[in-house]
Amino acid sequence: MLNYFKIFSRTCGFKPHQNSLAQCFRALSSSSSKYSQGAPVTPVPEITEKYPHLKTHKDIYDFSLENPSEFWGEIAKSYLQWMEPFHTVSNCDLPNGKISWFEGGKLNASVNCVDRHMRSIPDQTALIWERDEPGTEQRITYRQLYDQVGRLASALLQHGVRRGDRVAIYMPTSPAAAVAMLACARIGAVHSVVFAGFSAQALASRVLDAGAETIITSDQAVRGGKVIELKRIVDDAVRECPSVKRVFVATRTGAEVPRSGIDIPMEEAMEAAPAECEPAAMDAEDFLYMLYTSGSTGKPKGLVHSVAGYLLYCMFTQKQVFDLRPGDVFGCVADIGWITGHSHVVYGPLATGGTAIMFESTPVYPDPGRYWEMVQRLRPTHFYGAPTALRLLLKHGDSWVTKYDRSSLRVLGCVGEPLNHEAWQWYNDVVGDKRCSVIDTWWQTETGGVCLAPRPSAEGAEIRPGMPMRPMYGIEPVLLDEKNNEISGEDVMGALCLKRPWPGMARTIYGSHQRYVETYLKPMPGYYFTGDGAHRHPGGYYQITGRMDDVINVTGHRLGTAEVEDVMDEYEPVAETAVVGFPHELKGEGLYAFIIMKNDVTVTDQEVKDTLKGLIRNNIAGYAVPDHMLIVPGLPKTRSGKIMRRILRKIAANQPDDLGDISTLQDPSIVEQIVQLHRQQVQ
Ligand code: PRX
Repeated sequence: MLNYFKIFSRTCGFKPHQNSLAQCFRALSSSSSKYSQGAPVTPVPEITEKYPHLKTHKDIYDFSLENPSEFWGEIAKSYLQWMEPFHTVSNCDLPNGKISWFEGGKLNASVNCVDRHMRSIPDQTALIWERDEPGTEQRITYRQLYDQVGRLASALLQHGVRRGDRVAIYMPTSPAAAVAMLACARIGAVHSVVFAGFSAQALASRVLDAGAETIITSDQAVRGGKVIELKRIVDDAVRECPSVKRVFVATRTGAEVPRSGIDIPMEEAMEAAPAECEPAAMDAEDFLYMLYTSGSTGKPKGLVHSVAGYLLYCMFTQKQVFDLRPGDVFGCVADIGWITGHSHVVYGPLATGGTAIMFESTPVYPDPGRYWEMVQRLRPTHFYGAPTALRLLLKHGDSWVTKYDRSSLRVLGCVGEPLNHEAWQWYNDVVGDKRCSVIDTWWQTETGGVCLAPRPSAEGAEIRPGMPMRPMYGIEPVLLDEKNNEISGEDVMGALCLKRPWPGMARTIYGSHQRYVETYLKPMPGYYFTGDGAHRHPGGYYQITGRMDDVINVTGHRLGTAEVEDVMDEYEPVAETAVVGFPHELKGEGLYAFIIMKNDVTVTDQEVKDTLKGLIRNNIAGYAVPDHMLIVPGLPKTRSGKIMRRILRKIAANQPDDLGDISTLQDPSIVEQIVQLHRQQVQ
């Protein structure tokens, strides 16, 4: 097998101790590189056979930008199984938020993910469920998957679920959850998977926002040896959701759990239903699913993905970015509650007829060797995880990795946040034994699939640590300055935007198309604004510098600071709060809450903090609980009353001597008081 990557230190003089992002930028920007040409790593025969003059990766990339209809039209015809062909590849008006691909086409996502493979490779394993208890994995073939999806789809119909209905799925990462997603897709219901770590409140608000009448859940979940009372949480949520008419309950542990009149035991319902269920002929632009993510306001937004465009882009990136080959076993350890789980545990691997691992546990259960023991046992060719887990594991030492056989691995991917240099090197050297491709992928819930990654690329093209580097076919990244002008050249930084629509982009925010247009398309008219900043290095390689809005990234989970503030502000003794992120060695970013109390409160500071922690846990989730809470006499505000978060971020990052100009503040003296309290209580 070819070893594509080059050791970074040799190509640009990077020293192992230079592991901060700033150092990384400097080292990278002073390096020079050559974009090597040659045959693409993963061929695109759908294009090169029809257009034989396209020889190199660059030829195909340029073609994808210049002739998007020809490019995506060919890919769509070849990758997807259509019930009726499309007549128009692309009909988009990006500035106004009208995105439409493959008009006239009809298809069904479950047919594409299951039926066609059930016919050609019925006995191939589709899903390997790596259950929480090590060594108890279960395999499910395409034939079995077909049977289960058909039965649940029939059961949903029998119980009154209809095309277009929204169905909330609140389950652990498991084949039952994948079956639930695909069964919805089969009948044209729109699934909304809610991460099973979210609280009852968070679930209820998502169910209400979607107007879901149906929830699919499990009796319990098991994660890291701990039991989570999923059904109980659902019951609490349902009390606040009069719209909910039925709750399908799958069996995970078989424990006695509370029952209610609207419960439907899922396995019994499936047993009683026919395995054959006619797939709904969906329009290309019909909604496949919605998935909530945090934005800069307090209200999470339900991003909607289309049937054809999403499935195509997800499938195409699954193959191209990860160089997927027949017989590969794709080991993505993401939870199905996030976009990575949708695209690379369920839809991507299944649509490509692959074998996917579904990982139910945690990286450290029962010990920090869990991932690699699993790799030895299940022999995946790919491992796709999150930088936060890698940073945690590298602290535990190499022996947890090296004692297991990892020779099956060919590609190591990561996603969700910047992979710092130290973690990249460890991933490459220790986990990959310096013989795997390390693929740092950049994308978002909104993009549906990977937009920047080292692959696809020309054969032999270098891979550099700490950056996703290259755009995917059809993706044209640009950097804009404060005046919305495109920044040209190399070694420049700006707001990362994508210049043209692509099939996988989210179509709307459920219930608020205006919010969609205002969030993504209006800030920089004519472009899709990602919310991230980026650095374009020599060679045209992109590195993400972080979010430009009030969204932070805690252990790879996206969180709006306003969401946490809204919960804390509800507590009677609290007058005002401001939450900011700060660099955190393991989590990527940590949360720091500054709290002002009302004048006449009698509760102690500790009581306030404990209550707030409980409220955040109950209203959002455990990962949203701030690492630090500081009760302060005031906040740094401009004369117009706006909180200067820049100052709070500096204090939270332990850089109080570098606050810049504070003379425009209403009361500059408040800053010194906050710094003093921070030094006494936190630093
Ligand atoms: O800030 C970027 C960061 O994660 C955000 C998207 O989060 P979410 O919608 O939850 O999707 C995560 C999984 C696709 C982005 O706006 N992000 C994602 N990948 C990277 C990244 N930051 C740096 N490097 C990455 N590879």
